Amino acid sequence: MLETTHSPTTPLSPPLAPKLVTTVRELRAAVRAARAAGCSIGLVPTMGALHEGHLSLARASRAECGFTVASIFVNPTQFAPHEDFDKYPRTLEADLQALASCHTDLVFAPQRDDVYPAGCSTAVEPPRVAQRWEGECRPGHFRGVATVVLKLFNLVQADVAFFGQKDYQQASVIRQMVRDLNVPLEIRVCPTVREPDGLAMSSRNRYLSVDQRSQAVAISRSLRLAAQLAADGQRQTAALVDTVRGVLAEAQIDRIDYVAVVDPDTLEPVVALSGPSVMLIAAHVGGTRLIDNWKI
Ligand code: PAF
Repeated sequence: MLETTHSPTTPLSPPLAPKLVTTVRELRAAVRAARAAGCSIGLVPTMGALHEGHLSLARASRAECGFTVASIFVNPTQFAPHEDFDKYPRTLEADLQALASCHTDLVFAPQRDDVYPAGCSTAVEPPRVAQRWEGECRPGHFRGVATVVLKLFNLVQADVAFFGQKDYQQASVIRQMVRDLNVPLEIRVCPTVREPDGLAMSSRNRYLSVDQRSQAVAISRSLRLAAQLAADGQRQTAALVDTVRGVLAEAQIDRIDYVAVVDPDTLEPVVALSGPSVMLIAAHVGGTRLIDNWKI
């Protein structure tokens, strides 16, 4: 952890930019030095195009761990050929500045060949919790996610890794993988960060036009409304799903991949609420696919 000392009379100097490393050798040397200095290691895996959601993870790591590594790697294996890998925003300079404000110590931004050297042909078979929802809509996605995340865990050898609840199923997949494969690290899942009007922060929000941006807010509005109905006593999840679909239809969001109320651990659908559940949504606004979820 980089200590900055200041007195009330001296202005705060801007936070130092994190050290940027691109090779595995540099990464390992920096992590080894931090460990030798007695620091615990926190990892914040990202694909860059950082927003407040990512920064909340970097801050959580900074609060818990002595040395924070953020990885920035747009992982090709989690995108299907028709998806947005090529146009996914790459904003390294801005990302470094944003991470500086969170006092992140190190940024690991590898090239594709460092992560997937020629001849690399092993992949992680994701756990059962990966099968439904995103797993059905994006075949192969979680295999790519689980593989790259396990690689990052092995490369960085962190003590704690931080993920956002916005990607609820992803967090479940990673938690289960860590359990199943005895990965020696702890997973923290931090709350979704939202825009003031409720839209969940996502790197893909920047694809939205002004009109689509105002349509997209219906997603979180519909979830909030359904959660309120549940709190008021509605136990039938079909009624909650209908409510959500109604709000989305009013906003002319008509390409919905799924709306579901699921068990928070297994992600299996729930028919009648009898305990904590999670409502999951994936829908397309214009050409942009957005996901969100809400605990009920
Ligand atoms: O959530 C993401 O940004 C990615 O899926 C992750 C975890 C960094 C793996 O590429």
